[in-house]
Amino acid sequence: MSVLSGKKILLGISGGIAAYKTATLVRLFIKAGAQVQVVMTPASKDFVTPLTLATLSKNPVYSTFYEELDEDNNTKEGVWNNHVELALWADLMLIAPATANTLSKMASGTCDNLLMATYLSAKCPVYYAPAMDLDMYKHPSTLENFKKLQEFGNTMIPAESGELASGLSGEGRLAEPENIVSFLEADLASKLPLRGKKFLVTAGPTYEAIDPVRFIGNHSSGKMGFDIALSAANKGAEVILVTGPTHLNVENHLIQIIRITSAQEMYEVCHQYFDAVDVVIAAAAVADYKPKNVAQQKIKKAEDTFVIELEKNKDILFSLGQIKKNQFLVGFALETDNEINNAKAKIIKKNLDLIVLNSLNDVGAGFGKPTNKVTFIDKDFTIFENELKAKELVADDIINLIVKKYEA
Ligand code: PMT
Repeated sequence: MSVLSGKKILLGISGGIAAYKTATLVRLFIKAGAQVQVVMTPASKDFVTPLTLATLSKNPVYSTFYEELDEDNNTKEGVWNNHVELALWADLMLIAPATANTLSKMASGTCDNLLMATYLSAKCPVYYAPAMDLDMYKHPSTLENFKKLQEFGNTMIPAESGELASGLSGEGRLAEPENIVSFLEADLASKLPLRGKKFLVTAGPTYEAIDPVRFIGNHSSGKMGFDIALSAANKGAEVILVTGPTHLNVENHLIQIIRITSAQEMYEVCHQYFDAVDVVIAAAAVADYKPKNVAQQKIKKAEDTFVIELEKNKDILFSLGQIKKNQFLVGFALETDNEINNAKAKIIKKNLDLIVLNSLNDVGAGFGKPTNKVTFIDKDFTIFENELKAKELVADDIINLIVKKYEA
């Protein structure tokens, strides 16, 4: 999955022949899972139509401060295109092509069109991809503008060499849309807060075999653990996701899924990777007991009552707590009574840095639901209660806590 997935991209287009490439650019952004809004300078509409970009971006395209015509070509009174709102909506702004004229306005703060007003209002990272003829690209005033924009914190996506609209050949071509996307992906990935960190996340239930067709299991769907894995990967971490049986899947180049069935298998995989990871988050609902003897054949229905002798499974988290070096260990606690005290006892017993407590007494929390209500308790017993929220957001809260720890 692209790092651009879910990102809100504001594309500013200025008036040069290379503007025709922005149709492909918008298509690539949408394909990468981004949302796109487009602001055009009036001059750029001579090179690519707003209708093309509106169709590809699935959003209205803006080029004036006031809407002049409605969809039936009637004059609209008093509809203002709010440049501040547009700028604040964006996770990133890209100005492509950035002509010499637009670059100069960006550097001097000249605000004479909607694109410039939006640029000046943007608080998000701003990228620009210049496009102009080779001599313009090398002109001292252009170079001066590049320098100024760098001082403003804007990032340049350098022009490429090749044939230019003038018929000359040299540096100044707008970077190819595929290269612009790759540049943005690489730049964003390099700035993710958990880049270089390795996570081990457990998810789902374990199944403990009784015979070849039956098992002891529980109601965990795996969602909490999968959401945590995705949230960590979205912040740049490499994740090993060890999951019990679940229909869930996640496709992300930073997540390696290892599917296991029993607690013993989860134990072995966790120990295999433990030394190599920085953070462990154990969201799996691991069976505490397993049948002592597993029947080789299907058990026949004979007696009125039937007893299965159980023996304890190894406690995976406890065993990791015993050997931990620098790893940050996060456990979950699923409780039905005396929740806070039980969770605190688990922090000590399992040598945890943080525990995420969820109680089956809270409506909407726990197994199988799309939501969860959790309380964080750290190893100093500082307690932080959270509202009921979507498991994706709970996952983000947990990962953000870990990001803060690394930023501290
Ligand atoms: O999967 P979902 O449907 O989204 O549901 C999410 C969840 C309810 C399963 C999840 O939020 C959760 O609470 N997971 C932990 C459930 C649990 O087994 O809690 P526990 O209190 O029994 O265990 C405490 C901790 O020790 C847990 O981190 C558990 O993974 C770990 N453990 C437990 C037993 C064992 N043998 N080995 C372990 O590592």
